[in-house]
Amino acid sequence: MIVPARTLFEHAYGKYALGAYNINNLEQAMGLFRGCIESQAPFIIQISKGARSYTDKSMLEAIIRAADQIFPEALFAVHLDHGDEAAAMDCINSGFYSSVMIDASHHAFAENVAITKRIVDAAHAKNITVEAELGMLGGVEEDISVDEKNVCLTDPEEALEFVKQSGCDSLACAIGTSHGAYKFSGGQGIHFDRVTAIQNLLPGFPLVMHGSSSVPQDEVQRINAAGGELKEGAKGVDPEQYLPAAKLGVCKINIDTDGRLVWCRVHREHFRDNPSDFDLRPPGKIFMAEYAKFIASRNVYLGSAGQLEGSKAHALASK
Ligand code: G3H
Ligand code: 13P
Ligand code: ZN
Repeated sequence: MIVPARTLFEHAYGKYALGAYNINNLEQAMGLFRGCIESQAPFIIQISKGARSYTDKSMLEAIIRAADQIFPEALFAVHLDHGDEAAAMDCINSGFYSSVMIDASHHAFAENVAITKRIVDAAHAKNITVEAELGMLGGVEEDISVDEKNVCLTDPEEALEFVKQSGCDSLACAIGTSHGAYKFSGGQGIHFDRVTAIQNLLPGFPLVMHGSSSVPQDEVQRINAAGGELKEGAKGVDPEQYLPAAKLGVCKINIDTDGRLVWCRVHREHFRDNPSDFDLRPPGKIFMAEYAKFIASRNVYLGSAGQLEGSKAHALASK
């Protein structure tokens, strides 16, 4: 059942976070749904602009509609990840998405507010949830790359003002994480003092953490042992920190890179061990099973595992 992200946040706030997982193809969709049903977790499917244009935007929509039928128990929001104004409007008008992100964080404050407000007005008229972003994460997202020196953590006072002026439903905050496989070289991590300060000014308001992949070191090592050349030693977010962040109002935790690492490891190992194989289905089947296992394990860290029934009861009651 597809519901607005806002409905999922209402049940999760302060208790657990929803895993927001990016998908690009049917194997990821199957693994995601299986993992969430196995762990009895509500979740958010994210579709980036790149994912929408990988084949045709209607292809992913059709895959998700099919998955919704195959797994009638599932409870989720369909979310545009890092949308610009045109993509967000397109998703709002599609009648399929229940949540959109408008990422105008690279603009100055007033322009970010103005763009976000236009999306909020259009989205709320259709009961669609809007995530906005304030602050600057590091790493690469879509076609924008942010150098470490330009990263700036979200200012709590600005966050309060931004939410008031824009009317957005949730806010992606820069709190120390970054996109991609190379986040921290040392002992850095989430700036919990910053999250606390934001929550103090915006109590009850859902916060979003991007760049939350954990970049498991055993995954990186297996990829490299099978011919990959990923830089070892770079770290992701410690998944033990997901739940403490959730308790501070972080309701949505974005995980994409880790799923790509699972895909890469499965395919590299399969073709290393079966050099004469050229069939796509055997590694595809292994990937779906491994991705489902990965998703279920993340949902346990996020605290969303086991919350499906309660969240569904809340969603049905608020219809
Ligand atoms: O933050 C970006 C997400 O990981 C999506 O990546 O734009 O390559 O699909 P993508
Ligand atoms: P990762 O690169 O850490 O998986 O972050 C994904 C993300 O923030 C998608 O919006
Ligand atoms: Zn992101």
